[in-house]
Amino acid sequence: MTQDQLKQAVAQAAVDHILPKLDAKSIVGWGTGSTANSFIYALAKHKMEFDGAVASSEATAARLKGHGIPVYELNTVSDLEFYVDGADESDERLNLIKGGGAALTREKIVAAVAKTFICIAGASKLVPVLGAFPLPVEVSPMARSHVARGRVKLGGDPGYREGVVTDNGNVILDVFNLQIVNPIELETRINAIVGVVTNGLFAARGADLLLLGTSEGVKSLTR
Ligand code: 5RP
Repeated sequence: MTQDQLKQAVAQAAVDHILPKLDAKSIVGWGTGSTANSFIYALAKHKMEFDGAVASSEATAARLKGHGIPVYELNTVSDLEFYVDGADESDERLNLIKGGGAALTREKIVAAVAKTFICIAGASKLVPVLGAFPLPVEVSPMARSHVARGRVKLGGDPGYREGVVTDNGNVILDVFNLQIVNPIELETRINAIVGVVTNGLFAARGADLLLLGTSEGVKSLTR
């Protein structure tokens, strides 16, 4: 199976999981990235069966609107049953690294509001220990050097992601050479550095369900 076919398979599995629970008033939280885009494609076919979406990035919002799916501001939404998104890495406890697409802050906000976070990913994203994928950290631009100097607090080697400005007007540092044995502790520690907006560890609020695309079919892992 190609990577694209795996993405389509997990996107369809997410649709099969949530569709019976949606009604005309339901609003779905939407992630960012190529796997989340496959989910747009799969759920857009059923757009008459739910109300609309909250998007975790400007790119996702534009794509949703292109498919005729209404996009709501999160502040106007009182109830969000599902958030569906990809990941850069997951461990078996469904702690995640996200933010490869620089949308981590809005992704984390929408995930925090949703009752159920469904992560969809190809099998290569499942790892025994998080950290081979460099951990994205969104930083206020004026604090970039200050945060990067805090190597010990970050737990690894930060690199500036050149040319990237987030939807919130911030920059990204990617932290290399990590072996994250205690994801909640590192998530909390990095978020405490002045100038950090958020980091791409989703451990305090990890996924509730991981739909993992494998050559033998889609496997379900729960937290
Ligand atoms: C964007 C993300 C994405 O979910 C993550 O990078 C995975 O992307 P893809 O589905 O394209 O592999 O966190 O900020």
